[in-house]
Amino acid sequence: MKKENTVTVFLMGKAYRVPAGLTIMKAMEYAGYRLVRGVGCRGGYCGACATVYRLPGDYRLYADLACQTTVQDGMYIAQLPFTPATRAPYRLEELAPQGETLLALYPELARCVACNTCTKACPQKLEVMDAVQQALRGDIAQVAELTFDCVSCGLCTMRCPAEIMHYHVWQLARRLHGAYQAPRSGHLADRVGQIRQGAFHGELDRLMAMGKDELAQAYKARDIEP
Ligand code: SF4
Ligand code: SF4
Ligand code: FES
Repeated sequence: MKKENTVTVFLMGKAYRVPAGLTIMKAMEYAGYRLVRGVGCRGGYCGACATVYRLPGDYRLYADLACQTTVQDGMYIAQLPFTPATRAPYRLEELAPQGETLLALYPELARCVACNTCTKACPQKLEVMDAVQQALRGDIAQVAELTFDCVSCGLCTMRCPAEIMHYHVWQLARRLHGAYQAPRSGHLADRVGQIRQGAFHGELDRLMAMGKDELAQAYKARDIEP
């Protein structure tokens, strides 16, 4: 491969020449890493591949998803296998959808110093600090709305000087909102009713009786919604 088509990256401190244009994740595999942690969907949805890096001549520490970020020459990369964050114990059915619920279970929210580091760290470009402020105000619906696209990568939590465990707070807010505040879906209720009455039993039995090849053919021939 021509030298101009490659870049040098430092993976866990060791230099590798890798093809330009690869994602960090693919560059790691090209360099010989077999990923058993820090990888999942490879499509930017699961949040498993949180990665931090620095660029030459730039003082900032960047945070991103390895499967969504292209390598750059001189990138100094470390993957984070996991961000430890304790989820508060609760039973959703015993909680009230009140503003105080978030703060009662995650009192560290009150330690936010409004530095906005969490927002800058978020690879999903979410307004993370705003969501913390809404959580402090007790607006569960706003927290759920602002964090709908959170992939629980933990990068905000890793960088927060107030030790807030953001993604657990978001999850609680979305659960409370979904269980108690969001309008009920008539379509969902209808479909659950149909399932309970056995409307799909015959079709399921037919699929269960198929061999692997027949199943593969049926899958290819299925109706796909436009
Ligand atoms: S990083 Fe932590 S302290 Fe800073 S704004 Fe975000 S939640 Fe608040
Ligand atoms: S809010 Fe935090 S955990 Fe969620 S995607 Fe953004 S950085 Fe990751
Ligand atoms: S591997 Fe799932 S978000 Fe990167």
